Amino acid sequence: MCDGVALDPIAAAEGTPLYVYSAATIAGRYRAIDEAFAGYPHAIHYALKANSTLAITRLLRGLGSSADANSGGEIDVALRAGFSPAQVVFTGVGKTTDELAHAIDLGVRMINVESAGELERVDTLSRERRVRTKIAIRINPDVDAKTHPHISTGLKINKFGIAIAAVPALCAHARGLAGVEVVGLHAHIGSQITDLDPLARAARSLVALASELAAAGTRIEHLDLGGGLGVSYDGSRVPTAQEYAAAVLPVVRESGLAIVLEPGRQIVAPAGALLTRVVDVKEAGGEKLFVVMDTGMTELIRPMLYNSFHRIEPVVERGAAPALCDVVGPLCESSDTLGKDRTLPRPEVGELYAVLDTGAYGSVMASNYNRRLLPAEVMVEDGKARVIRRRQTLDDVLALEL
Ligand SMILES: Cc1ncc(COP(=O)(O)O)c(C=O)c1O
Repeated sequence: MCDGVALDPIAAAEGTPLYVYSAATIAGRYRAIDEAFAGYPHAIHYALKANSTLAITRLLRGLGSSADANSGGEIDVALRAGFSPAQVVFTGVGKTTDELAHAIDLGVRMINVESAGELERVDTLSRERRVRTKIAIRINPDVDAKTHPHISTGLKINKFGIAIAAVPALCAHARGLAGVEVVGLHAHIGSQITDLDPLARAARSLVALASELAAAGTRIEHLDLGGGLGVSYDGSRVPTAQEYAAAVLPVVRESGLAIVLEPGRQIVAPAGALLTRVVDVKEAGGEKLFVVMDTGMTELIRPMLYNSFHRIEPVVERGAAPALCDVVGPLCESSDTLGKDRTLPRPEVGELYAVLDTGAYGSVMASNYNRRLLPAEVMVEDGKARVIRRRQTLDDVLALEL
C-alpha cells in the first residue's frame, strides 16, 4: 500500500517498472524541516537535483519551499513549476557562461560561486547587463562528511568550492567589483550524511569566516548550509530534522545570520518506491538464486554508483519459504545488481516487488541505456493515484534522431 492505496492495481494499470510517490510523505518531511527551524530566520530551497518531476516540484512550491537549481535546465523547470526567479538559488561546479547569463538575466536570488574564475565571469556578465548580482561564496571547509566517497564534496581533494584560506582575499577583491555583491557563504559537504558532527563543523567554519569577513568590511546576510542530511535506507536510526536543527542552530545563532537550507534526499527519498516485476529466477550455483527484475541501473543507478542499499520487498505476501537471492537487473552489466545476498520469500516469475526509498536520485538519474524507456511516475495523493509522467515511448526517444 501507499497511504492506503493498493500498489498491485496501480502496477497492473501502468505497467512496470514504475515510480510511485506519496504526496503526504513529501509534505510531512518538508514540514518537519520547516518546523525544526521555526523561530529562526530560514529559507528552504529544495534541491531539485534529487527529483524535479514537475508535479513534485509544484507540490513543494505549494508547501512554501523555494528551489535550489544545479543547471540551466533545473532553473527553467523551477520557473515552469511556478517559482519566481527570486526563489531560486543557482549552484553547481561547472556553470557555463550561457547558464550564468541566463541566471543573471532572470535575476535569481543568488548564484553560489565556486571559484575565483567564476566570480570574474559573473562580474563581467553582470556589468555588461548593468546589474549587480547577489552571490554567495561556496567554501570547501575540508570537513570529512563520513559518507560514501562518491558523494563526499567538502574535502579539499574534492572539486567543489573555494578553500577557506582564499576567501578573505577573494571577498576583498569582490568589494571592488561593480557586478557582484557578496551576500552569503555556502557549504555543502556531501550527501547521505548520518553523523551530525561534520554538518555542525561546516556550519562553525561558515560562522567564523563570516565574522572574519565582517571585520574586513564584507557584510554577509545569510549562511547557506547546503543539503546532505541522510535518510535510513536499512531501517536503522538516523538523525531527525529536529536533531539536525539542534546541532546547527546553536552554532549559527550567535552570528544572527539567516539560514538557507538545500535539502533534497531528506524530503523525497522515503516518499518513493520503484515497482518492478520478476522476469526470471535462476539458480546461481550453490544455495543462491538470481532474481532478475524488469528494472535495474537504468531506473536506479544508486546501488551501482555508490554500492548503496535499498530494501526490496514483495508487494503481496504469499508466505513462500525463504531463499537467499541476488536481486539483479536485466542490463548487460555485471554491476547491474539491485541487492546482494537478500533473503526473500522464494520469488516467482511475474511477482511484483517494491524497491524502497527511491524518491531521490532515482528517476532523475535514469537513462535510456539498452534503449530502455523511462518509466511512468505516479503520485498518490488524497487516497487517489494519478500519473504525473507518462511512460516514454520509443517514438519519444527516436524523435531526436535525424
Ligand atoms: C550544492 C548542493 N545542495 C544541495 C544538495 C542536496 O543534497 P541532499 O539531497 O543530500 O540533501 C546537493 C546534492 O549533492 C548539492 O550539491
